[in-house]
Amino acid sequence: MRMVDFIANKRDGLVHDDEHIKQFVTEYTNGSIPDYQASAWAMAVYFQGMTKEESAALTHAMAKSGDELDLSQIEGVKVDKHSTGGVGDKTTFILSPLVAAAGVPVAKMSGRGLGHTGGTIDKLEAFSGFQTEMTVDRFIDLVNEHKLALVGQTGNLTPADKKLYALRDVTATVNAMPLIASSVMSKKIAAGADGIVLDVKVGSGAFMSDLDAARELAQTMVQIGNELGRQTVAVLSDMDQPLGEMVGNSLEVKEAIDVLKGGGPKDVRDLSVRLAAHMLVLANKVDSVEAGEQLANELLQNGKALEAFRQFVERQGGDPTFVDNPEAFVKANHIIPVTAKEDGYVKQIHAAKIGQAAGHLGAGRMTKDEEIDHSVGVQVKKKRGDYVNAGDVLTYIHSNKEDVADVVKLIEESYTITKEHVEPLPLIMDEML
Ligand code: URA
Repeated sequence: MRMVDFIANKRDGLVHDDEHIKQFVTEYTNGSIPDYQASAWAMAVYFQGMTKEESAALTHAMAKSGDELDLSQIEGVKVDKHSTGGVGDKTTFILSPLVAAAGVPVAKMSGRGLGHTGGTIDKLEAFSGFQTEMTVDRFIDLVNEHKLALVGQTGNLTPADKKLYALRDVTATVNAMPLIASSVMSKKIAAGADGIVLDVKVGSGAFMSDLDAARELAQTMVQIGNELGRQTVAVLSDMDQPLGEMVGNSLEVKEAIDVLKGGGPKDVRDLSVRLAAHMLVLANKVDSVEAGEQLANELLQNGKALEAFRQFVERQGGDPTFVDNPEAFVKANHIIPVTAKEDGYVKQIHAAKIGQAAGHLGAGRMTKDEEIDHSVGVQVKKKRGDYVNAGDVLTYIHSNKEDVADVVKLIEESYTITKEHVEPLPLIMDEML
């Protein structure tokens, strides 16, 4: 089919068949379809949507557009977790060693990523010497022997998604729900896990600020995963404020270590335990989510998850003494308080603005060659529902520059304080099994 007809069909609300979707993905990836036609099509999808079948076909074609990781040499059911992206989300550092400590293989492929704070690998590089470059054979051996390894994304995984996502980013089409679902799931499918637990964030720091839209996204992804032979479940979790206290690379790793030591903020611990419990169910380690939570809590309390994390850091070249003594991580030069201007209850903390504040401090990168400052970020002391008096500290800015007026402004704008009592919102808003 000619690309112009493919675009016109979507513009007019028709349904693509699998063959034409495959043809589009192949020809866009090899450069025969120009960006201007692909962007017109993405905009048509933005307005007309896609059926679940079309999304599954797009996912499949994108997953097959490059290399796929073959994890069949790893014994047992391999389960992965993916978050649609939130501010202060450090659950990966907790649940990966936790699930591995339960004897379930965790073969994780992660990226650096662009954004307000670094990706998983950037954060782990807070441990000096931490290495994620290795051959696939070495990666598989490590998982077979120790149940946990993390490798950087291989060069040619889902090139179709890489190209289309970059195009969507500059054509105002990232927020097209079926395209988000296919983009996320194509990477997960190509990365080879048998089971996938999705953490779909809802709120001011998420792609989906509204619960109904997040439900639709979750349902689409669960259906795509199951249709393509991977058992998939989704947890919808609150992102109307940052998760935990810490936003920034080594700050988040430190907070994850606190949780692995049995402390840390309750929201981080509860979400990590719930996601880990779903992973344990998918891996057939336990037969209910409740039993999974019980096992996860035991592994946190008896120190086995912490020990699994310590050994994982050491095996991958990082300095494990930082796990024992997180105060050794490089600290920012200035710790600057931001205080409340009025009395009242914290009604909302606009999570994306806190993320932007961390970005302004140097915690993230907007182009792939930028350096990340591991030490900087925002520490959120007052959360939704807390009562504050004027002058109380809302957040601490961890900065290596003295002039942080732009960051203070963003943080002040992110807080909404009201006189009325504010009820807490549930951390986990829904689950799709
Ligand atoms: N994350 C992705 O990987 N793709 C999207 O389209 C949106 C978020």
